[in-house]
Amino acid sequence: MPHATHILTNCRLATMVGSHINDLGLIDDAALVWQGQTIQWVGPRSNLPTPWPQAAQMHDGQGALVTPGLIDCHTHLVYGGDRADEFGMRLHGASYEDIAKAGGGIASTVKATRAANSDDLLGQSLPRLDALLADGVTTIEIKSGYGLSLVDERKCLQVARKLAQARGVQVRTTFLGAHALPPEFTARADNYIEVVVDMMPHLHEEGLIDAVDVFCERIAFDLTQTKQVFDAAQALQLPVKLHAEQLSDSGGAALAARYGALSCDHLEWLSTSGAKAMAQAGTTAVLLPGAFYFLRETRVPPVDLLRQHGVPMAISTDCNPGSSPCTSLLLMLSMACTLFRLTPEEAVCGVTRHAARALGLADRGQLQAGMRADLALWNVPHPTHLCYNFGSHPLKHRVHAGHWPSTGD
Ligand code: NIG
Ligand code: FE
Repeated sequence: MPHATHILTNCRLATMVGSHINDLGLIDDAALVWQGQTIQWVGPRSNLPTPWPQAAQMHDGQGALVTPGLIDCHTHLVYGGDRADEFGMRLHGASYEDIAKAGGGIASTVKATRAANSDDLLGQSLPRLDALLADGVTTIEIKSGYGLSLVDERKCLQVARKLAQARGVQVRTTFLGAHALPPEFTARADNYIEVVVDMMPHLHEEGLIDAVDVFCERIAFDLTQTKQVFDAAQALQLPVKLHAEQLSDSGGAALAARYGALSCDHLEWLSTSGAKAMAQAGTTAVLLPGAFYFLRETRVPPVDLLRQHGVPMAISTDCNPGSSPCTSLLLMLSMACTLFRLTPEEAVCGVTRHAARALGLADRGQLQAGMRADLALWNVPHPTHLCYNFGSHPLKHRVHAGHWPSTGD
């Protein structure tokens, strides 16, 4: 049976298409046509060929603003337990790094994640996913990294895939075996990296890896270890990304750029040479204002430097229990503007067009013929409102893969 054709009118589109990397591409009184899960036509309603060649289902946008479905390109959404106790410890004076060095931090989530079975993990992760979907998210990246053994990393990646089956959302999985040193490898980081390298082909063969990431930091893995993981990824033709320069300038961004990394993420301590290397490699910068806020960092990522070198900036929640227990991508828009001084145009491009790029996805993040029909319809007049209001819930409808929500959705 041919796919149904849909025509949406009575709306303002923010297509994110334009000659400048942060153009909103606004079209007033617009029409958007899609068939199945692919956009066929976008433009002013007055230019819509009528009658449209195929019979079509008509949708009244009721004056909504329509953007591409939002993309949360950096999350650690699948994990067991929480770290509210450590939040309390930090308010009593301990630092994130102190807690990590004392065996808490990521290690405590590893313990809780290993103890949970797949069903528990799915049950704990679904409400977090649902909160993000209620913010208009249609694609989400989910990293492993709280299992740190073949069985537990597999379990987490499988749960990430199951989340996509349970809800109308696309999930991209990233293998972050090199997130932290598991307790059984204390003081044997090099040995653990060999284990990470060994896990990769198995998980890849099972179709569980879309990209590979490393936490490159003085409390995690160094440049040599990062390189070993990247070499293994490259051998399997898997793209890489990096948690880079979050707490110190470790030179991770420049290394990642040499591997043609899709993205470098965090970047508070990024140097000029790191930014230049990213620009040359076409690597996207993923900024994570939730982690900056929650860890009470004071050094903001060098946004001007990134602008100067034309490095596209994406924005994401970093949803995780330790540094950013956040399930609102819209809140990140507000924080990116207020804390990092991004313009609203940059911020909205950061959760659409540039977030798609950070995941290596060329078929979404913009509204134009050939792209996926992933849409968010908003009860606001202009994209700036998505950054300006915080704590509000302006989503009217979410269209994933062309599925117009039925009444009651
Ligand atoms: O992106 N930086 C490393 N990983 C996470 C934090 C994970 C945790 O504390 O559980 C992050 O901030
Ligand atoms: Fe992260």
